[in-house]
Amino acid sequence: MSLISSLSHLEAKAYSTTWRSPSNIAFVKYWGKKGHQIPANPSLSMTLKECFTETKVDFKPADALGVDLFLEGKREDRFALKIKNYLETLTTELPWLNKLALNIETKNTFPHGAGIASSASGLSALALCLTDYIQSFSNENDQDLFFKRASFLSRLASGSACRSVYGGFTTWGEADLAEASDKYATPISVHPELAHLKDTVLVINDAEKSVSSRDGHTRMKEHAFAEARFAQAKHNFKGMVNAMKSGDMEEVGMILEQEALSLHAMFLTSPNAFTLFKPNSIAAMELIWDFRRETKLPLYFTFDAGPNLHLIYPDVFKNKIKTFISHELAPLAVKVIDDERGEGPVKC
Ligand code: PMV
Repeated sequence: MSLISSLSHLEAKAYSTTWRSPSNIAFVKYWGKKGHQIPANPSLSMTLKECFTETKVDFKPADALGVDLFLEGKREDRFALKIKNYLETLTTELPWLNKLALNIETKNTFPHGAGIASSASGLSALALCLTDYIQSFSNENDQDLFFKRASFLSRLASGSACRSVYGGFTTWGEADLAEASDKYATPISVHPELAHLKDTVLVINDAEKSVSSRDGHTRMKEHAFAEARFAQAKHNFKGMVNAMKSGDMEEVGMILEQEALSLHAMFLTSPNAFTLFKPNSIAAMELIWDFRRETKLPLYFTFDAGPNLHLIYPDVFKNKIKTFISHELAPLAVKVIDDERGEGPVKC
């Protein structure tokens, strides 16, 4: 089902809107696609609070589709072209996009290269602006449909972006859950003790990553372990949902780390092998394992596609855990970013 096929009759009109949308961190990873932006396995993520993108879009009637984009006030023609290409893919169903010029002003609260997905926050913020345009000219006033459509449009821009449209915890991908879909994400409720997880990001290296996620997803097509990985992710997804719902932080943490390490193991064992780990990524993991053995405190890590660790722990343990982070882990990092579970996007 397409959530935009009924909108072909809309017209190109002037409109302006601004949305803030957060990034998210996957607890169960999406890595590998089947078809156009359809995930090979379901994923589950936590939406962040402090790390977000704020995007203002001015839509103006024009002779042809056009995009101007300014990131932190600076013209970015490369990003503008990516957005234009994305919008072009939508014009079969939304032909009126061919008659709009978009002026996009966007800024992030977090630095590029910090291991926090700016594509998730940036592209969901853009999709929310587009959905807002659609809603304002389509006489629809259904909030559930609004966010479902925003998630659908975000996914077509960048898979993981579709999970940023909701606060708290979100799943995306076909699974044995009511509402689960490959086409858009769905929020899920979790045990109250896990509702307030912290995410302290240990930025080990802030250089641009050497392999893009687009390239990485493609490498899974030829990967000897692809089917085993998708089966593992499906199994871990079920385990993660159950552990999040029952409040079993130890189980959440075990799956969290296995997912991160399996993702990086895919990199190491792919046809063109690569690694995104740095020596300090490994050093930090070992210190965390030692700390957990010694203190029994629930501090766990995950990685995105990069060298930086997301340290995940329940809010109630933050004093002791933050002391450990600042004494033992921070010296391994170029920067530490303090974040936590957030409430989702807002219209400004
Ligand atoms: O949304 P993409 O295409 O940038 O892929 C994201 C992949 C990971 O961040 C590594 C995992 C995930 O589920 O977010």
